[in-house]
Amino acid sequence: MKILIVYYSKTRKTKEIAHTMANELADGNEVKLRRIKMKGERNLLATYLLDTKKAIRREKPEIEVIDFDHRKYDLILLGTPVWSANPAPAINTYLDRSDFRDKKVALFVTLRLMGGEKVVKLLTEEIEKRGGKVTNSVIIKTGLFHEKRMIEEAKTFASKL
Ligand SMILES: Cc1cc2nc3c(=O)[nH]c(=O)nc-3n(C[C@H](O)[C@H](O)[C@H](O)COP(=O)(O)O)c2cc1C
Repeated sequence: MKILIVYYSKTRKTKEIAHTMANELADGNEVKLRRIKMKGERNLLATYLLDTKKAIRREKPEIEVIDFDHRKYDLILLGTPVWSANPAPAINTYLDRSDFRDKKVALFVTLRLMGGEKVVKLLTEEIEKRGGKVTNSVIIKTGLFHEKRMIEEAKTFASKL
């Protein structure tokens, strides 16, 4: 199977999860990893202070060029952290530019505490509007006390796809 793993990550938890899933799926599949980047990315403090609003308003900030084509893949894994109970804003821009026609999509959403179900629902609606089908989803808690479990959950999720 040809698999594309697309994600946004600010503090590298979603990135670590994406890479764990890529390793888990590498055997017998062709896996490509792509990170969505916001243009003019701010430091973490400024992100909390300024970009949180963008998440709440579901803004679509400028992102770096998307250099992949969904049509080449059988399965797409999409990952985002939860920001104020919403997807990271860069993901809104990515969704807006994407065609998911006849594509299977699996979602992985990372968070500290809450807002994951809402984000899964939102992403599912956006993907289905664009012709895709969300077949699986997982919400993974990150942070100091969840490190080991976070990796285990990522492996388990990927192994069942
Ligand atoms: C701007 C901002 C807003 C956040 N809002 C939430 C939230 O509403 N709920 C929550 O559980 N975690 C929230 N978090 C925590 C992140 O979702 C969590 O740490 C995530 O795993 C970070 O992923 P990353 O390291 O890939 O950026 C927020 C983090 C940031 C930076």
